[in-house]
Amino acid sequence: MIDINNKGNSSSDLREVTRALLQEHENVAPRTTVLSCLLEVQENLHYVPEEAIVEVAKYTGHSINDVWGVASFYTNFRFTPPPQHMVEVCWGPTCHLLGAMDVLVAIQTKLGLEGEGDVPDGVIGLKYNTCLGACSQGPVISVDEKITGVVTVETALSVLEETLNPS
Ligand code: FES
Repeated sequence: MIDINNKGNSSSDLREVTRALLQEHENVAPRTTVLSCLLEVQENLHYVPEEAIVEVAKYTGHSINDVWGVASFYTNFRFTPPPQHMVEVCWGPTCHLLGAMDVLVAIQTKLGLEGEGDVPDGVIGLKYNTCLGACSQGPVISVDEKITGVVTVETALSVLEETLNPS
């Protein structure tokens, strides 16, 4: 089995692990679809490599274009290895009203980003989220899937700093 945290996995490793994942997926969910296969890959590898697109096409009997069409339709799929840390900022209606934009701008400025994406060294990435499910605690951010609510610019930057440089 490959180390999914190793960004240097070879193409044949990625193909092999994808085939194993799809086989495992079929054992628990016999009615597989292109979407369910892609979700299985993303859940395990945390992204969908090009090799997985090819393997899902072979496995489901669809063309690579068909699989790519499904994968690219959904914005939650990512096609490059994920960064070490992921910060999500909720900009849903409630968080927006409670000051999410100031938090978002502060985090973007701190990371040197102008929108969603990963910093060049791959240490951290930023995603927007339309609701992190804790509206009563807005504004809300999530760092590595750990939610922090009622954030201010200062507390959000402090959470970020602690993530990047743990004490
Ligand atoms: S709108 Fe932000 S958590 Fe729901």
